[in-house]
Amino acid sequence: MPNLHHLLLPVLSLMLITKTPAREGSNEDESQVPAYTLPNPLHPAGSSPVTTQTDWDSHGRPATLALFQKNLYGLTPPGPWKLKLETLSTKTDALKGKATRHLIQIRLADLPAWPGLQMLLYTPNAVTTPVPTFLCLSFGGNHAASTEPDLPLSDRWQRPAKEKHIVNNRATEASRGTESSRFPFELLIDRGYALATAYCGDLEPDHADGWKDGIRGALAPRVNPTDWTCIGAWAWGLSRMLDALETLPFIDSQHTAVVGHSRLGKAALWAGAQDTRFALVISNNSGEGGAALKYRHFGETPAIITKAFPHWFVPTYATYGPNPQSCPVDQHQLLSLVAPRLLYVASATEDLWADPKGEFLAALNAEPVFALYGKTGLTTPTQPAPDTPIGNHIGYHLRTGKHDITAYDWTQYLNFANKHWNP
Ligand code: GCU
Repeated sequence: MPNLHHLLLPVLSLMLITKTPAREGSNEDESQVPAYTLPNPLHPAGSSPVTTQTDWDSHGRPATLALFQKNLYGLTPPGPWKLKLETLSTKTDALKGKATRHLIQIRLADLPAWPGLQMLLYTPNAVTTPVPTFLCLSFGGNHAASTEPDLPLSDRWQRPAKEKHIVNNRATEASRGTESSRFPFELLIDRGYALATAYCGDLEPDHADGWKDGIRGALAPRVNPTDWTCIGAWAWGLSRMLDALETLPFIDSQHTAVVGHSRLGKAALWAGAQDTRFALVISNNSGEGGAALKYRHFGETPAIITKAFPHWFVPTYATYGPNPQSCPVDQHQLLSLVAPRLLYVASATEDLWADPKGEFLAALNAEPVFALYGKTGLTTPTQPAPDTPIGNHIGYHLRTGKHDITAYDWTQYLNFANKHWNP
């Protein structure tokens, strides 16, 4: 006669395999998503309806931008910015001789106290004409993105991470290359693209008091640090990197894609929404506060994110925690701000926290604004099967696997850029 343990163990382990309980306050069961009605992107709250391109440019776009400033990301100071650029090093035989590696310090001319950000840029040696660029921030710094041992180690604050060999919030020699799977430099170089990156912590360390040691602190009191946010500071930095690229004769800055993974995907979207110089805007698994719909109760919620990462958003965003549908704007409207430029949204099958379906639906519901410009979006209202990229002016794929940015994701971004820029 088996004892109770023998009977219960298989049942318990089966329960563990079939259902990992969703984190408190979140839902990961499709059948439990309550009904919702999204705001009409062609009639943003507080504005009159939009029926033409002129309407969108004159009041639809400004009203939508203002909603995101007020309710999520704060007001990015407009500038103008006078940059002080310094080339720290140039290595012409990087990546087995395929690339030139440029390390450029970006500072503000009238703010010498701010140490600035260090931009790492690889350009393909095989191409003699100006090249298009993918631009993104990293979680750990240039030394973590690249495996080249002669890059300087970032001495800025780092989030604690044992697996990345962070000791006392600082990178160590062992931190080199720990993010390199997310930066397939050679893949881009082989296809004739440049890749520019910098450490997000150069702009603002990612913690609640980080603003004091970042650009928000440096610009205070000229700009009130509580007027904007950490995501705003990261997005601001992406635009300054583009300013720097615009000065380089070997870069085709008219063809710059801004891309970001996860929290840095939220920043990439906010940068791309505001700064119309970005010709292609790519969200990789950006989730809540990024590409995912907040009106759809699935995965991470505004209540959870604003508790865990209060510095990412303005305090107003936390007030929508109890009822996300009371927020007057949803994330399909953020995506619509990219119109008529190119947009790509990517999800991953196991990344339920970021709500893959909510990301797809946000892209789908951004389409009416693209349609004003005669641009077709995803071309289908149904979320595609895994590993089946779709879309015309708006691209989308659902990669098999976990929350990450992989060579598969990058390959789709390169294919999409090639299709539109180099047909
Ligand atoms: C957390 C956070 C997400 C974020 C992610 C990341 O999971 O809840 O909103 O996107 O970190 O940046 O990896």
